[in-house]
Amino acid sequence: MQLEAKNIGFRYDKESWIFRNRNLSLSSGEVVGLIGPSGCGKTTFARMLAGYMQPFEGQVLLNNAPLPKKGYQPVQLVFQHPEKAVNPKWRMKKILTEGGKFDDEWLELIGIKKEWLRRWPNELSGGELQRFCVARALGAHTQFLIADEMTTMLDAITQAQIWHAVLDVARKRNIGILVISHEQPLINRLCDRVIHFSGNNSGDDQ
Ligand SMILES: Nc1ncnc2c1ncn2[C@@H]1O[C@H](COP(=O)(O)OP(=O)(O)OP(=O)(O)O)[C@@H](O)[C@H]1O
Ligand SMILES: [Mg+2]
Repeated sequence: MQLEAKNIGFRYDKESWIFRNRNLSLSSGEVVGLIGPSGCGKTTFARMLAGYMQPFEGQVLLNNAPLPKKGYQPVQLVFQHPEKAVNPKWRMKKILTEGGKFDDEWLELIGIKKEWLRRWPNELSGGELQRFCVARALGAHTQFLIADEMTTMLDAITQAQIWHAVLDVARKRNIGILVISHEQPLINRLCDRVIHFSGNNSGDDQ
């Protein structure tokens, strides 16, 4: 399996491009880092990789085909703010099962306590809630995970626990991961290779 971004360009308004000619190729089982200065468009890029937004120029391809328009999205995005990614009117169990079935062993690995399943999102801490978002993103049909500052808000121990669980599952299921982070030590620890996005909009980065 291959997730590719080919000559992606994006702009929010007519006047200025956020970036142009961005490229990425991510294979199953690979863990790749993406770094670049704040505002250079990493989150925007991540949203296009996961099919939340369409690029203005270029294409996102999964095995040489566009991302599926409906059904389960095989490219899942987890971002920094879990409270914005869950339905506040659903209990945690329902939120979790959006990603498909889950087993107790997986919940334990990622550090979800069973009693949390009955709670509402606002009855959990940010870190607890993020574990649910990560667990949900790794549903049975997920092939790629885009982790956009996924553990930035967490303490070092929780961060390590979550990444340990995610890498374990990714290895078993040959999932490819893009790690977007400002934390160089985290990137160094996790990633096989690193892509740099520069801050300018000229498009001749990488
Ligand atoms: N909805 C929007 N409308 C207009 N401009 C936007 C919108 N969302 C983001 N931008 C702008 O696009 C640029 C890229 O934003 P993006 O969030 O992708 O950057 P980033 O690389 O993820 O930054 P950070 O490292 O701070 O997370 C920024 O200049 C931002 O102000
Ligand atoms: Mg960002």
